[in-house]
Amino acid sequence: MAEQWARSGLDLHLGIDRARGLRAGLEEALRSAVRDGRLAPGDRLPSSRALAQELGVARGTVTQVYEQLTAEGYLTSRARSGVRIAPRPRPETTVSVPAVSPCWPPADRFDLRSGLPDLSMFPRREWLAATRHVLGSMPNTDLGYGDPAGDPTLRTALADYLGRSRGLRTSPEQIIVCAGYTHALRIICQAVRGTIGFEDPTRQDYPAMAERLGLTVTRLPVDEDGLVVDALTGENAVVVTPAHQFPLGVTLSPQRRRDLLAWACRTDAVIVEDDYDGEFRYDRQPVGALQGLAPERVIYAGTVSKTIAPALRIAWLAVPGHLVPALRAVLRYDEAYVNVIDQQVLAHLIGRGDLDRHLRRCRVRYRQRRDRLGRVVAERLPHARLSGISAGLHAMMHLPGAAEPELLGRLAARGVVTEGISLFYRDARDAPPGLVIGYATPPQHAFEPAIAALMAVCAGDDGAESPVSGRRRGAERSARPGVRRRPR
Ligand SMILES: Cc1ncc(COP(=O)(O)O)c(C=O)c1O
Repeated sequence: MAEQWARSGLDLHLGIDRARGLRAGLEEALRSAVRDGRLAPGDRLPSSRALAQELGVARGTVTQVYEQLTAEGYLTSRARSGVRIAPRPRPETTVSVPAVSPCWPPADRFDLRSGLPDLSMFPRREWLAATRHVLGSMPNTDLGYGDPAGDPTLRTALADYLGRSRGLRTSPEQIIVCAGYTHALRIICQAVRGTIGFEDPTRQDYPAMAERLGLTVTRLPVDEDGLVVDALTGENAVVVTPAHQFPLGVTLSPQRRRDLLAWACRTDAVIVEDDYDGEFRYDRQPVGALQGLAPERVIYAGTVSKTIAPALRIAWLAVPGHLVPALRAVLRYDEAYVNVIDQQVLAHLIGRGDLDRHLRRCRVRYRQRRDRLGRVVAERLPHARLSGISAGLHAMMHLPGAAEPELLGRLAARGVVTEGISLFYRDARDAPPGLVIGYATPPQHAFEPAIAALMAVCAGDDGAESPVSGRRRGAERSARPGVRRRPR
């Protein structure tokens, strides 16, 4: 409700929200009048008696409001000059926040970006039950400042889980819980000095972060056997994705695994094993982690971002014993700890076997999708090829001759969001033309329509040019008469 009073011949309108209570309403009305300049520095306010009369409130209420706003620095109060608007240290300027685009803007209709699981599979019931259990049973002392390296219950559960599921040789003391893999990598980069190698292709954010932290970064090629170990030079550390190279989807061959470990021993280097989706292998039993072969050489990194949900921001490192003090020293000033309640909830889920059951459900669904994608590509896009092993949450779809930016634009026009392979290369010219398809990302009901829309665009059935461009397209057409073209 708007109130007003006469002040030196001027009417001041105060929108006092009486629903908040008279005192709070008057306080807020005066604050906003000062902020928006209707009351200027030096302006004298009515006496508490006069204002109380005018507004029909108790004088004590106005006195309290004046005292509060004086304490906050909005007003000054002197014996003979009364209550005035306080001078401002400097004129208030409106700070305009430049527009920033979110890292993961929501997809229009069909989200086929890599890196996300089907979030509709989040085990809500189990998470809720585990949260109830944890809150009902955790001692008050657990609600204090926890161990920066992670809650002991989760570190114990993880040491056991990683041993049986990924063949790790580790102990709770060697586990460090982090707020996601990126955080884990940041801690490593702060502990390691010198030069760090990254696969090329990879997610560009990781080498970029290492560089920002002052490390020298090298980029190492990847072929069908995974990281080209011979390309390593004098790196102090190297980051690899041995189970399922991101994004190419190949595994590090047994010989390369041996070569890599031999290189690390010879040069006293550290291997960072990013096992981001190691739980998902569909054609055979998952290959055990590299860490199991050399626990003193390998820092193993895992995350729940693919198995449960990125929103949890929970990842972990299994660290060689001799590196634990250096990484703990970094954590001392880090403060990006994971909420202890969530850590205990995850520990409970692991301990009860709920995580294993959830993973079994996910594997069935993702495997069906990967198979389906393979079949549809073979049927609809004879010129295309899926590469990489049947694993994880994404597949590479090679589209020889495709013009990537134009293709992505046409996909976006159909509501399909996905990524070009070139996004992951240091030099886009090194990338084969094609797309990285995050087939796990859409919820189940959207998977078939998403794939149908993807195929329609890639086959040129969307009323636009075929993605296979130029001279090559002509060659492809004559070589493969089965490729469907849009009628002209
Ligand atoms: C190669 C790779 N490693 C690790 C991660 C996990 O990252 P985070 O735990 O920070 O969500 C991702 C996520 O997309 C990834 O692509």
